[in-house]
Formats: sequence, C-alpha cells, structure tokens
Amino acid sequence: MSTSTANSTAESALRRQRQVLDHLRGKGQPEIDPKATISHIAIYGAGIMGSGIAQVAAQSGYKVTLWDVTQADLDRGIHTIRTSLARSARKTGQPADWVQSILSRISSTTDQLAACTSADLVIEAIVENLSIKQDLFSRLDKVAKPTCIFATNTSSLLVADVSAKLGEERKQRMVALHFFNPVAVMKLVEIAYMDGTSPELLALLKAWVHDIGKVPVLCRDTPGFIVNRLMVPYNIEARQLVERGDATIEDVDTAMKLGAGYPMGPFELMDMTGLDTGYHIMKAWYETAPGLSGDPRFKPSPEMEQMIRDGYLGRKSGRGYYVYDK
Ligand SMILES: NC(=O)c1ccc[n+]([C@@H]2O[C@H](COP(=O)([O-])OP(=O)(O)OC[C@H]3O[C@@H](n4cnc5c(N)ncnc54)[C@H](O)[C@@H]3O)[C@@H](O)[C@H]2O)c1
Repeated sequence: MSTSTANSTAESALRRQRQVLDHLRGKGQPEIDPKATISHIAIYGAGIMGSGIAQVAAQSGYKVTLWDVTQADLDRGIHTIRTSLARSARKTGQPADWVQSILSRISSTTDQLAACTSADLVIEAIVENLSIKQDLFSRLDKVAKPTCIFATNTSSLLVADVSAKLGEERKQRMVALHFFNPVAVMKLVEIAYMDGTSPELLALLKAWVHDIGKVPVLCRDTPGFIVNRLMVPYNIEARQLVERGDATIEDVDTAMKLGAGYPMGPFELMDMTGLDTGYHIMKAWYETAPGLSGDPRFKPSPEMEQMIRDGYLGRKSGRGYYVYDK
C-alpha cells in the first residue's frame, strides 16, 4: 500500500470512529435501558469463556441458554459456573439461595437451533476455527429472530470473516464482544464493529456491557482488536527468549511481574489462556490476517506445536508451561 493510500485509509477510519463516538457522546440522547431490547441471551460454547459469559449475564438478571456439542461439555460448564458462584457467595456473604437463584436463569441444551430461536443476543464462544464459526452462524441465521444480534468472542479472527456466510441484514447486526479470562474477574469487553454497524447498535451494546458490570472499549474490525494485537507479539517474544535459551520460564515470569508490574508473567498468562487458543491465533494471523500474514514472527514454533500434540494446553489440561492440580 502506498503512503498516501495508507493515510487516506487511516483518515477514513478515524472519521468513522469519530462519527461513532460523536453519536455515543451526543447530548440529549435518552439513556438506554439494554433490558428493554435484550432479555434472552444464547451462548454457544460452554468452555472457559462461554461458561464465564453465561455466569456474568445471569448474575446481571438475563435469561441465558447455554449450548455445547455434548451433554458432558454442558455439565462441565455448569459445574464451573456453580463453583465460581459459590466462591463469590462465600467471599461476599450472599444468602444461601443466591447461587441457585442465578443458576435458575441458565438453561442448557445440545439442540443447536432451538437454543437461539427466542434469543435477542447470540454470543459465540466455540473453538477458534473460522469455518466452524462461519457454519454455526450461517445455521443460526436461518432460525434466529430478524432482530437478534450476533456476536463472536473470537480472539483473532475478523468479524467480517466470521460473518461471511450471513445475509446482509444480519451482518449489520453482527459484532465481536471480546471478553477476557477469567470473565467473572476481568472488567474489559472489546466491542469490534464493521463499516456497516450502526451507532445505535453500538450504543445499545455499550449499555449492555455496562449493565453486566464491565467496561466497554470500541475498536474497528482489525486482527486481535486492541489487547491481543499488543499481547500476542509480547507472548511470542517471551517464548523465543526461552526457546533460544536466553532465560528460564520462571525468570521471565518473575521479571515481568516485578520489573514491569504485570499481575502475571507471559507463561502464566499463556497457560491461563490455553496454548491451543494461542496457537490458533498465531496460525490464523500467519496464514490469512490482513497486514500480518507471512510475518515469520507469527509462525507457530515446532516446540509449541509439540506441546499441543502432547496435550500440554495450560491450566485447562492440568499442564502447560507449569503443572496444575486438576
Ligand atoms: N481462553 C481465553 O483466554 C479466551 C479469551 C478471549 C476469547 N477467547 C475465544 O473464545 C472462544 C472460546 O475459547 P475458550 O477458551 O472458551 O475455549 P474452550 O476450549 O474452553 O471452549 C471451546 C468450546 O467449543 C466447543 N467446540 C469444540 N469443537 C466444536 C465444534 N466443532 N463445534 C462447536 N463447538 C465446538 C467445545 O466443546 C468447548 O466447549 C475462542 O474463539 C477463543 O479464541 C478465548
């Protein structure tokens, strides 16, 4: 891309961002009550992220339907939610029926289409694989209400790609709602929007994010949005330090906690995220991401691929860079 084309692309992106922000800050706009538009949320994927999103949505009064491939996946997800709520109840001195009252707002099913027919908002948190996500949304598009908003929790893919098989009307109601792990604790939600996303939809979603006790930030549909675009190269540098034999895993983690003030070191963070999720991000960026594909930094190393083949996925499998009690 020439410098002048890059400048004009950046200018038009900034103009668009200003339009959205002007609308969101506009004076005299009525306060938005998200519950007037969104009451039922269908969440696809009951893994680390889906179960966390289901928990915070139900805790904030929303009716949730959780879908996953097998009953065992759902049972594991509901168990995670119950354990997390019980811990929170102990810490904050909630009444005895608090956990159950929140769980009663969450139903679960393996019936993929039935899960979303009455939903106002669909949030997808399934495996980070483009064609699997595209196929899911394409099936849901045919049965969801025309007004239903579609959101992906993808870490690395473009909303434009995930929504590629949707009808035009639905595409305008599709965004990324990118939560952070652990969802119950992390305050941020990135809302990533496409050129056709209306300011009204963004305003509604910002209000919804506030309503579930989180803080929204807006970002154009760009690989990794804000946080992962900065965090993934940092993780890669950390891994390369160790793979070259420059420093140990423990010393890199200690250095970044005590020297940079980060709450976790990069290896602790990669274990928490899941090595497979990190791998999918790098692979997708290396293979297809605009402006990033072909960059050798993002090519997963043989050491990383071997860890994944060995099932060392991080906390969720009991072993990654560190060993965990299951
Ligand atoms: N782990 C993180 O820190 C993190 C943070 C933000 C976003 N994300 C994103 O959230 C999404 C889910 O990640 P996760 O960490 O919860 O993963 P996970 O492995 O814990 O859960 C993924 C879920 O997808 C389901 N699944 C597997 N194959 C499937 C298929 N073929 N069709 C439908 N569902 C299938 C699994 O049953 C599982 O419950 C990914 O897109 C990931 O990039 C992850």
